[in-house]
Amino acid sequence: MNEKRKIEPEVDFNDMLKNPHRLFGLFYILVFLVILAGGIYYVKHLDQIAFNRGGYTVPDIDLSEFKKIERKKGGVKPAIDIASIKNSSKEDIAKGKELFVKNCSACHGTEGKGDGPAGAALNPKPRNFTKLENWTNGPDIFNMYKTLQEGVPGTGMTAYEFLPPSDRISIIHFIRTLADYPEITDEQIKKLDEKYQLSKGVIEPNTVPLPIAMKKISEEESLVLKKKDELVDKVQNDNSNEAMLLKKVANNLNNVIYLFASHKLNNDYENFVRKVASDPVTYGFNSSILRLNEENLKALYDYLSKLAG
Ligand code: HEC
Repeated sequence: MNEKRKIEPEVDFNDMLKNPHRLFGLFYILVFLVILAGGIYYVKHLDQIAFNRGGYTVPDIDLSEFKKIERKKGGVKPAIDIASIKNSSKEDIAKGKELFVKNCSACHGTEGKGDGPAGAALNPKPRNFTKLENWTNGPDIFNMYKTLQEGVPGTGMTAYEFLPPSDRISIIHFIRTLADYPEITDEQIKKLDEKYQLSKGVIEPNTVPLPIAMKKISEEESLVLKKKDELVDKVQNDNSNEAMLLKKVANNLNNVIYLFASHKLNNDYENFVRKVASDPVTYGFNSSILRLNEENLKALYDYLSKLAG
């Protein structure tokens, strides 16, 4: 019974290196562990993940027109002859086309097909004026004017209320040549005039040149940033229930307080709830804020509003 028994280790690494396919078993476990770790990380950080973080696209628009804006006292814009709205002249359409190319074609395309370069990244896409289906406001004169006065909130279509009303009407007349648009009725003209006071003239805001406006904005901005820093310190040192709650649901306290210090979120509670619920991360919160009950949410809002003054 002196048979020598060679004791072999259960896992012979040298042998494995010589026959790498035997490593597969270990490799399999490694892959599994990496996936598991990734999964755990993801679930743990769900609160910080935005639902609709699409990123904002700023269309590349020619600013030279804005740079030409001079300091101008506001006043009443000349009234327009509302009878002329119904009958567009050739000159009027030509003027509208010129204005369209200058102001709108970057997004809507020179032929109005909604295919301008600055519109490519927008969602929703700029309207194609050769089609009359599925418009948000509508392709009748009243709604087109409304679109230019107010923009379409939440889309790349901003308001063009700075264009004189007569220019806006000319642009609309040009757009109307691109398809078979609904007839302009007396009723719509009446509605348009009642709502926007076209025959009385329109009050125009004061304008200032771009460099002055930017200087003013940056002065205001640096004040807001200073205030924000002070308020963040204050919250950091505050141990009240509301402050603790805020620190718990804030993903980025600086963001939250900046938005309140610049009065972007503290105008009305409903608005605050709507915005934060739609995309907490953008507003500096993590999604655990969605699990607060009404009472705590209101307390949080009141605390922040009071803080920002
Ligand atoms: C920065 C890009 C951009 C520019 C510049 C722009 N638009 Fe738009 N426009 C849009 C987008 C995006 C929409 C689609 C909005 C929607 O889906 O409701 C739109 C929609 C419209 C609509 C249709 C609204 C509806 O009822 O659906 C009209 C009318 C319009 N634009 C007119 C103009 C005119 C006139 C100009 C120039 C004075 C202009 N737009 C400049 C992006 C732009």
